[in-house]
Amino acid sequence: MQEAFFAGAAFAAGAAAQAAGGAWAQCGGQNWVSPTTCVSGYTCVFVNQWYSQCQPGAAGPTTTLATSTRPASSSTAAPSPSTAPGKFKWFGTNQAGGEFGEKTYPGVWGTHFIFPDNQAIQTLIGQGYNTFRVGFAMERLAQNGITGSFDAGYLRNFSASINFITNAGAYAVLDPHNYGRYFGDIITNTNDFKTFWTNLAKQFVNNPRVIFDTNNEYHTMSQDLVLQLNQAAIDGIRAAGATSQYIWVEGNSWTGAWTWNTTNTNLVALTDPQNKMIYQMHQYLDADGSGTSPNCVSAQIGLQRVVGATQWLRANGKLGVLGEFAGGPNNVCKEAVKGLLDHLKANSDVWQGALWWAGGPWWGDYMFSFEPPSGTGYTNYNSILRAYI
Ligand SMILES: *[C@@H]1O[C@H](CO)[C@@H](O)[C@H](O)[C@H]1NC(C)=O
Ligand SMILES: *[C@@H]1O[C@H](CO)[C@@H](O)[C@H](O)[C@H]1NC(C)=O
Repeated sequence: MQEAFFAGAAFAAGAAAQAAGGAWAQCGGQNWVSPTTCVSGYTCVFVNQWYSQCQPGAAGPTTTLATSTRPASSSTAAPSPSTAPGKFKWFGTNQAGGEFGEKTYPGVWGTHFIFPDNQAIQTLIGQGYNTFRVGFAMERLAQNGITGSFDAGYLRNFSASINFITNAGAYAVLDPHNYGRYFGDIITNTNDFKTFWTNLAKQFVNNPRVIFDTNNEYHTMSQDLVLQLNQAAIDGIRAAGATSQYIWVEGNSWTGAWTWNTTNTNLVALTDPQNKMIYQMHQYLDADGSGTSPNCVSAQIGLQRVVGATQWLRANGKLGVLGEFAGGPNNVCKEAVKGLLDHLKANSDVWQGALWWAGGPWWGDYMFSFEPPSGTGYTNYNSILRAYI
């Protein structure tokens, strides 16, 4: 999520091979075998060459679109998606607050920034969520330069949040919510960035439930620099001796899933000696994809915006996670979110999970707030999301 937006808010298979596909199931696409028909009340709709989906409508005889169900070509090496919906490894929420007050560094705890509310996180864990992405500002941690020592108070409070989450058995994602920038300037020194990550990873070297997220939403910067910064972070983390943890890398263009296949294809070259690297993408469903409107483009937009990324991941043998998504409190968005999550789950061989944007104690009446008990997102979407745990 773009900082400019919420900074203000802070203050205010196994299935039988030939069975018909259920609601929102995949029913066609290159390499797809079955099902190719839909249950009554749903029609197999061609989305693109890779994907057809059972969408509501045309009650009665089930339908198949010939163009969407070409038999697998033996020349195509990519693996087929699983026919049974799988299980997400990571499913939870973002936790915003530690990065708030971006104009005021270091700022004052409780005035400019705040860390997550443990009780709220415990409530979400009780609902079954198992992953929380905790935002922080590099400028508050490394106050005297990117390679400098960390501020003891900020590190202590941030670590307390992280340790609370992992002690409760969940995963905690360390999210420098910095957009590839430090005090507003694009980070260009990859060695310095590597040192920052070595310093941070050392703090969590013995905690396998920690996940390192290299940086939130690189944007409007050199594509090669995004590649080099991600690789430097990976190298720095592994050099710290943190070898058991997953690393989530992010792309340029706010790491959008909808533009991944045209923007971030160079990131295929990233390497992790531990082979625990996950491509983290974000996706909002409003017209400009920024997540600033409560209105979604259509009930199908969730699926449509990520299907290209699904294909990219599979074609390249990579794994992904949707690190931010959300929808406004209305029926079109609810259907779009369900379509999105159905698609991710049906393709859980490449999509390892998804995180709602966002929980956090300072959201007030923000349309996406997932803070229990009364956040707008929580009251509208908790029962929907829980179906995917
Ligand atoms: C850390 O949290 C405590 C409250 O638990 C607060 O008093 C203190 O100001 C915080 N310090 C920083 C640097 O966040
Ligand atoms: C690229 O991704 C978009 C968005 O998911 C999708 O509509 C488009 O078909 C994809 N293009 C290719 C060539 O896969």
